[in-house]
Amino acid sequence: MRESAENQGSSRYPFAAYPSGWFRVAYADEVAAGEVKSLAYFGTKLVLFRSEEGEASVLDAYCPHLGADMGLGGRVEGKGIRCPFHDWHWDGGGRCLDIPYATRIPPKAATRSWPVCERNGVIFVYHDAPGRAPSYEIPELPQLASSDWRRPHIRHWKVRARWLDMNENCVDIAHFKYVHGTLTIPEARAEIDGHIFRTDSLFSWKTPGGEGHGTGHLVSTDHGPGFQTVELDGILDTLLMNTVTPIDAEHAEASFLYTVRTGGIEANEQLAKAVIQDLEQQFENDLPIWENKAYWTKPLLCDGDGPVPLYREWMQQFI
Ligand code: FES
Ligand SMILES: [Fe+2]
Repeated sequence: MRESAENQGSSRYPFAAYPSGWFRVAYADEVAAGEVKSLAYFGTKLVLFRSEEGEASVLDAYCPHLGADMGLGGRVEGKGIRCPFHDWHWDGGGRCLDIPYATRIPPKAATRSWPVCERNGVIFVYHDAPGRAPSYEIPELPQLASSDWRRPHIRHWKVRARWLDMNENCVDIAHFKYVHGTLTIPEARAEIDGHIFRTDSLFSWKTPGGEGHGTGHLVSTDHGPGFQTVELDGILDTLLMNTVTPIDAEHAEASFLYTVRTGGIEANEQLAKAVIQDLEQQFENDLPIWENKAYWTKPLLCDGDGPVPLYREWMQQFI
């Protein structure tokens, strides 16, 4: 495949750069009907566009004709996109619909179309190096459509780390005390259901912005390598929708969406903001460690380390 050389492990990252699974490439409101967006993920360029009817499609950006990047100057027409170089017309399935100056379309005229799923206000593509069809679905998050939950807050970070170093953070329970300042190292219960890995941890923490402390659960649920929810209780019910997408072999883009159940009560708003601010800071506490760490295939673990080996074993299905 196109990316096979780059997709190999290296001494810093002895695991695949681009695993199989659904990955966010945009939020739904970043591309309106009739618009085109240039994307750079999985070590290549992609083009995202919405047809005039609003259907999102993702194609390899480089036109198979003479290689123009259709994300830069391509324009939507009907259900497809016209290349800016010689005006060839491609539909969302990667078929060539028209070459304005040719008498016949070459029989092999096709380009790579990526499986797309639009859910929870996100446009996902399915990456699979051998080209297999998607093997699971992204779940709908009812909190995002509920008026009990405040308007989501979204952050993006470009991180010089490979996806697995970030993903396994939630099962690395000891670091919560030493990096995130929880009062205890939680007890974690992990369970696997096919493509889903869920960890339920009981924490004891300081109240954000206050002197008090409380306890609460943190439930992290991974649906494949590119989509994770984190649900917290104990202060105000909080939901994170975390999406991590590989950019290239050295970098990933993490985007976290935060929402809190305020119940429409104004008095909860200040506390909700403090909770979100604290969680954003927690991510930034992890960053310098991720960006400079080594990855050990056989780490030296102890009995308090939690389900890191189980998580890595589960993740093998996507690598
Ligand atoms: S390079 Fe796209 S039409 Fe020629
Ligand atoms: Fe962390």
